[in-house]
Amino acid sequence: MNSGLKVLVVGSGGREHALALGLLRSPSVREVLLCPGSEGMMALPPGLSDKKLGRAEGEPAAVARAEQVDLVVVGPEVPLVRGLADEVRALGIPCYGPSRTAAQLEGSKAFMKEFCERHGILTARAVIVRSPDELDGALARFKEPPVVKADGLCAGKGVVVADTMDEARDAARRMLTGEAFGDAGKIVVLEERLLGKEASVHAIIDGKRALTLPVAQDHKRIFEGDRGPNTGGMGTYAPAPLVGPELLAEIEREVIGRVVRGMAEDGVPFVGTLFAGIMVSPDGKPFVLEFNVRFGDPETQVLMETTRGDLGLALLRAARGELVGNELEPSGQSAVCVVLAARGYPESPQVGDAISGIAEALEIPGVQVVHAGTRVVDGQLVTAGGRVLGVVGSGANFVEARERAYRAADKIHFAGKQMRRDIGAQALPQN
Ligand code: AMP
Ligand code: GLY
Repeated sequence: MNSGLKVLVVGSGGREHALALGLLRSPSVREVLLCPGSEGMMALPPGLSDKKLGRAEGEPAAVARAEQVDLVVVGPEVPLVRGLADEVRALGIPCYGPSRTAAQLEGSKAFMKEFCERHGILTARAVIVRSPDELDGALARFKEPPVVKADGLCAGKGVVVADTMDEARDAARRMLTGEAFGDAGKIVVLEERLLGKEASVHAIIDGKRALTLPVAQDHKRIFEGDRGPNTGGMGTYAPAPLVGPELLAEIEREVIGRVVRGMAEDGVPFVGTLFAGIMVSPDGKPFVLEFNVRFGDPETQVLMETTRGDLGLALLRAARGELVGNELEPSGQSAVCVVLAARGYPESPQVGDAISGIAEALEIPGVQVVHAGTRVVDGQLVTAGGRVLGVVGSGANFVEARERAYRAADKIHFAGKQMRRDIGAQALPQN
């Protein structure tokens, strides 16, 4: 098969492996290259033997040119905020991902807050603090202890949900003086603490139009019952019953639609994935907690199973500003992704433990195993990061999807494996 797209996926985590699998399943795609990806990702799933999957090392824009790819899809936020999409587009290669300026929606929380205010997007009331001298005055504007956020990218660690004013002051002071998070913390956003339930809403955007994907929910804490420290995400499920059709329509209109229009009006049209972290308040209102300018990890793992159509075509058309909106639709399936994390995660993840049982897990119907942090040493697959694998089960409903995900997850072993047993439990019919 010679016709079809050759797509370069930038990144090396579970999100990028899931995107590669979704792209390989796309009728329009012939070949996927991961840059750099990892060795454990190199197996073609059954039924896709006519497609090609490979890896490339090196600077992504240079690789895209050398490999003459038709499309670049950027996974993580850091290269986007540094301007990778601009660099790729300057070579005349379509790139799915926002420009450096548009990526400020995630790269600067102060930018995001000012943007929401300017365009009437519902979010927590906030005060931006630019120097330690302003801190006491800013804190005085809150009756309850505010949430403290470092302005810049902090790999998901720059948010302190303080329980007391002293804790908030101390966290903000450490950021403002550069003691915590370096330059990323030199501007701080203080914001009202919101109550409610969180949802991850993703839309594929071409600068003018948006295609909304099924709503997912993440489980950020390490332990069951949402206890213990925050992590990058211990599991996800979709479609989340928390957001019904009416609320989704409201989010599309009042959040996604306003971002698309607002960015275009501000002269920085947004191309790529807008991932809105939404807090659904007790009275059902969608407040934006944060914007991300890329797919969520591990949200992507379940989005790939709950949509059907042609992901490659959707991302190419979005990159070209030609999205139609019918490229993907809900598959009707339910999906659950259980993350298997390394011992010591999140404080001090241990690496190098031998992994077994993936082949047995993959024998279960409706199961995918996504590599997040693995590597091959002397022919043996070993752990190589905090989040090691994502085990995805899909099925006609959440009972089936969870049963498959956990049956598969129980077949995979490595020393000190950590996983939560309650992923997707909220979506079960009795809840
Ligand atoms: P962010 O990176 O801004 O989404 O923050 C990380 C996490 O902190 C979110 O997923 C929420 O759980 C929590 N959080 C952030 N902002 C607020 C807020 N205003 N009120 C309550 N919790 C928040
Ligand atoms: N799972 C949350 C994120 O990707 O930011």
